[in-house]
Amino acid sequence: MNNGPVRAIILGYGIRGRAYAEYAKTHPREFEIAGLADPVAAFPADAAYPTWKNWEEALEAGVDADAVIISLPDRLHHKACILALEKGYHVLLEKPIGCTWKECEDIKKAQIKAKRLVLTGYVLRFAPFYKKLREVIAYGSIGEITSVHHLAAISYGKAAHAYCRGNWSVESKGTGMLVNKCTHDFDLIEWWTKGKTCKKVTSFGSLFHWRPENAPEGAADRCQACPVTVRESCPFDAYKLYYDRKDLRYHFADESDDAILKMIETSPYGRCVYACGNDSVDHQTVLMEYDGGLTIILEMESYSQQRTRITHFYGTRGEIIADETKIEIKPFLGDSTTIIPAQNGHHGGGDREIMTEFVKLVKTASPDRYTKILGAALESHRIAFLAEESRYSGKTMDCVTEMPI
Ligand SMILES: NC(=O)c1ccc[n+]([C@@H]2O[C@H](COP(=O)([O-])OP(=O)(O)OC[C@H]3O[C@@H](n4cnc5c(N)ncnc54)[C@H](O)[C@@H]3O)[C@@H](O)[C@H]2O)c1
Repeated sequence: MNNGPVRAIILGYGIRGRAYAEYAKTHPREFEIAGLADPVAAFPADAAYPTWKNWEEALEAGVDADAVIISLPDRLHHKACILALEKGYHVLLEKPIGCTWKECEDIKKAQIKAKRLVLTGYVLRFAPFYKKLREVIAYGSIGEITSVHHLAAISYGKAAHAYCRGNWSVESKGTGMLVNKCTHDFDLIEWWTKGKTCKKVTSFGSLFHWRPENAPEGAADRCQACPVTVRESCPFDAYKLYYDRKDLRYHFADESDDAILKMIETSPYGRCVYACGNDSVDHQTVLMEYDGGLTIILEMESYSQQRTRITHFYGTRGEIIADETKIEIKPFLGDSTTIIPAQNGHHGGGDREIMTEFVKLVKTASPDRYTKILGAALESHRIAFLAEESRYSGKTMDCVTEMPI
């Protein structure tokens, strides 16, 4: 490779595609956009590269590029990643790698054949907060870890947006909420337990609340038609989530008040949460047993006030509690310490740091390293898919001998 910037085509110019494109502005000597594909997105007016309406056209165009960033809807990851590898591109692939384990395995075969990088969009492991947490755990100040309680709290607004009204509300259209949302958490767990094998996994979860039978009396199918008295007492009312609050507006290209009001009147995001035809779970618990007896509980929860992750490590000589803002180390002997890692940028800086790593890997790593990187990413997907099988079947899955179907 030459010494110039890594040139990448971005497939899917939605929230994630735009986040990765930002890196070209902030690090022009490292990264350059070679083209953008999206059927509906507004492309930058000053784009000095080709644009297409569809990912397939972009990959068939024979553009001079080193890499492809796949930030498409989940169901398109499999086909797009395999074609990109066949065309000889390195890939930054948003999670989930595939919607089924079979799709993940197809991507693994294609990666081995192409000898190219497939880096999964596990941005959290690149965020300074989580890098520091990993360092603290590896330092061994709480002795041997006996168990971990990890909570992925989605927040009721974000969960209503994505998993009730939005793209991930119907499991058969992509993946279940656990594979979509918590592959990040399975990845972190894989990272924290490096060298240990997950022996067993079991999982419980359901769609507890956003069901038609829980609709308040008199509720209409869309918020705009709902009686004000009903809407006033509904925390999931689209006007409260998108108009009164501003923090979820980044999901929409036009964040102006007028556009948000129109969106509530016309788009799926203005539907009553009890009338969305959704079947995605709204809470799920996963229990894992590792060799040596380490046990881990992962809890995914929609009905939380805050959107955060809280992890509690219990060790033979103390505890560590991490909540995405601070890391508290509490040894049984000696004083407690609190570390507040610097955070800067989206996903605590992970969006930027993953791009730095991607550029470096494209330029310097070897095919063997590429295969190892994807192998580790797939292992956390494998446990997530086995957890889903446990939820469907009611069985505890043996992670050493069983593969997901
Ligand atoms: N790593 C993370 O933390 C993280 C966070 C959110 C989402 N994601 C993943 O990123 C992916 C994209 O999510 P998003 O939130 O950006 O969604 P999004 O809907 O904002 O973006 C997806 C884009 O793909 C475009 N698209 C659809 N069909 C296309 C086609 N045939 N050709 C080209 N473009 C097409 C859509 O128009 C849209 O603009 C998903 O797989 C999601 O699971 C990852």
